[in-house]
Parts: sequence; structure tokens; C-alpha cells
Amino acid sequence: MRVVILPSEADASNFAAGFIEDYICEKQDAVLGLATGSSVLLTYETLIKKHQESTLSFQNITTFNLDEYVGLKRYHTQSYRYYMKQKLFNHIDIDQKNTYIPECFNDDYQLSCNNYETSIKSCGGIDLQLLGIGSNGHIGFNEPTSSLSSRTRVKTLTKSTIANNSRFFKDSEVQPSIAITMGIGTIMEAQNILLLGLGKHKSKAVADLVEGPLSSFCPGSVLQNHENAVIVLDQEAASELKLYDYYVHTEKMKLKYMC
Ligand code: F6R
Repeated sequence: MRVVILPSEADASNFAAGFIEDYICEKQDAVLGLATGSSVLLTYETLIKKHQESTLSFQNITTFNLDEYVGLKRYHTQSYRYYMKQKLFNHIDIDQKNTYIPECFNDDYQLSCNNYETSIKSCGGIDLQLLGIGSNGHIGFNEPTSSLSSRTRVKTLTKSTIANNSRFFKDSEVQPSIAITMGIGTIMEAQNILLLGLGKHKSKAVADLVEGPLSSFCPGSVLQNHENAVIVLDQEAASELKLYDYYVHTEKMKLKYMC
């Protein structure tokens, strides 16, 4: 696991956007796994800027989002399909036919989940999966005690996740309490993982993820078992790491000897 600690949210997001850009330059038809939420917002803004100001193209890119709420209409303003259009897809040259988000609009959720897994496989699997981390340690909507080998499925959200995400919903709007999410086993099959942890409120989850015991109680800790996981943090999110200085030192050595 590579742990990159940067001074601010802007620096961390810039690093993440640069990492994705480099990946796309190497593999122009890459399959990206994408996340929603606050942590990835600045990364998406930076990617849009890079697309507008340079030759970065998403024309041959395919994307799979981690999750979608069950119970919202397709283009509801809180749906993740809407989020992705507003925050990224409408501003880049991606073919929106190649942007997959779990379908939660028919009654056969199991079929949707199976289809999602099949689509990922038929596109050759995910090359680079972008993740955030919930303050309870979830990745995707795999809440604490999720099976570490789970596949795409319907998941009941915890009270803390519902409370954390209530900031996106108006008082008059009904907030869903279930979602379809890629499973932890699905996420772990991505060739590369890039996780962004930003802010003091993520510091405990980040410490559990990086240094805690590998446990389904902190689903993110499963990434300790991934060969190519890069954890990008701002200083606040990194503040509870016991080996903070070591991670900073390791990155400096990398710059000195590997560039
Ligand atoms: C979003 C997702 C979630 C978020 C996590 C962090 O698609 O799957 O795991 O990444 O809840 O959310 P923010 O970034 O809003 O703190």
C-alpha cells in the first residue's frame, strides 16, 4: 500500500487528477471505476480543466460507478447518475453510452446486480478504481461487517451513512436507506486502486484502513491486501496515522531514487 500525504485538499486532489491523467495517457481505452460524494469533487473539477486546457481525452474511456441509491427516479437531482452528469460527464468528451451506473429502476434488483457484474467483466474488468472512504470505514456502500468477498448487491445503509449524506437532501425530499453497490470482492478485482481521504473527520477511518487490523468492521482495511493501492491523504485525514513520518519519508525516497 502506497500512502501519499499532501499538505491540503487541493494538493491531494491535484495528485489524484494527475494520477488518473497519467493512467489515461498510457491507456486511452481504460476502464475507470468512479465514486461520488465530496472527496472526489475537486479531482473531477481538475480533470475537467485538464480536458479543456490540454489534450486529455475521455473519448475511448468506459466508466463504472460504485453505487446508486434505490428508490430515486433516474435523473433525480440526488441520484448518482445526475451527480456524475453534473460533476463530470457533461463537461468532458466521454461517450455517455459507455458510462455505467447500477440500475435501480426496475423491481428485479438482483438481475440489475448480476448484469452489472457481467458488464464489468465484458469490458475486461476495471483498470483503475477511484474511491472515497466513509467516516465509518465503508468503501462504495459496503458498510461495516460487509463480506470482504461480496459482489454487487443491494445493501442497507447504516444510520451514520444516512446522517452523513443527509446534507445533500432537502427537508422535503425522502432520503433512500438502501442502495446497490459494487461488492468488496468486485472492487478488489480492479487492477489499481486510488483512494482519496480528506479532512479531520476521516482521520479515524483512514488510520483503521491503513494501520488497523484487516477487518470487515472497517471495510476499507481490505485494501491492505491489494497489490496496487494508492491512498492519497491531506494532512488532516492522515493525522491519526502512527507511521505518519515514515510515509512522508518513503515518498521523498521515491522521488529521489525512482524518478
Ligand atoms: C460514493 C461512495 C462512498 C463515498 C464515501 C465518502 O460513490 O461510494 O463510499 O466515497 O461515503 O463520501 P464523501 O466523499 O462525501 O465523504
